[in-house]
Amino acid sequence: MDTIQTLQQYIDQSSRIVFFGGAGVSTESGIKDFRGVDGLYHLKYKYNPETILSHSFFLSRPDEFYEFYQDKIVQPTLAAAPNTAHRVLAQLEQAGKLTAVVTQNIDGLHQMAGSQNVLELHGSIHRNYCMQCGQKYGLDAVSNADGVPRYHCGGMFRPDVVLYEEPLDETIITKTVQAISQADLLIVGGTSLTVYPAAGFLDFYQGNRLVVINLDNTSYDSKAALTINGKIGEVLGKIKL
Ligand code: OAD
Repeated sequence: MDTIQTLQQYIDQSSRIVFFGGAGVSTESGIKDFRGVDGLYHLKYKYNPETILSHSFFLSRPDEFYEFYQDKIVQPTLAAAPNTAHRVLAQLEQAGKLTAVVTQNIDGLHQMAGSQNVLELHGSIHRNYCMQCGQKYGLDAVSNADGVPRYHCGGMFRPDVVLYEEPLDETIITKTVQAISQADLLIVGGTSLTVYPAAGFLDFYQGNRLVVINLDNTSYDSKAALTINGKIGEVLGKIKL
């Protein structure tokens, strides 16, 4: 049996599937990942992206933060649409087979494809708030701004995303641990599994059907019942629902 047939069989036999993904899920939508061959971390900047996307850098150099964030994250996301991977995962949820999508992505493409229960470990670029008065705003607070986005009160907007040096949301952690620990099939895809605590949540899986679908090898491949080295949209596109 080939790997796709095995994946198909696993999916057919499961009713509490959880998908855990990262930036590689959106590369087929035209958004660059961080550590893949064409990823943001291979481009040359004055600072490395982990520094720019950190809490201390955001507060000390908001102008440079927003230049990078607009250019490399917001504008590419605005131009993107869900791909086959996003759509198949939404269909699996609608079919009552998938209980949650856990994502490290902040692009909102799973929701755009129709997924309802999306646990966004690193927040979302679509939610923004004024750091002075707390006023909530959509993405247009940032996408339409020239330079550092500010609300009428003069306060600076910040995206509701988890920057380096910041903790994850406790409620999202609780829901993630619950979903993964109750999953009968855990499909991991498009993530290097190098960023913690996110990657560590996989350890709560208690089943014996861990599937990893990724272009590069990951540190969880040796624990997986099935590994597929391929593009996640192409792989999931071969699944019959
Ligand atoms: P990475 O860029 O670290 O990893 C993306 C992985 O997806 C790589 O292993 C690629 O080989 C793989 N990949 C790329 N395109 C793929 C495709 N079409 N199909 C299958 N695999 C593909 O992204 P993440 O693991 O999401 O955090 O990175 C985790 C966190 O690091 C991000 O959430 C972000 C970043 O810094 C914060 O900003 C807090």
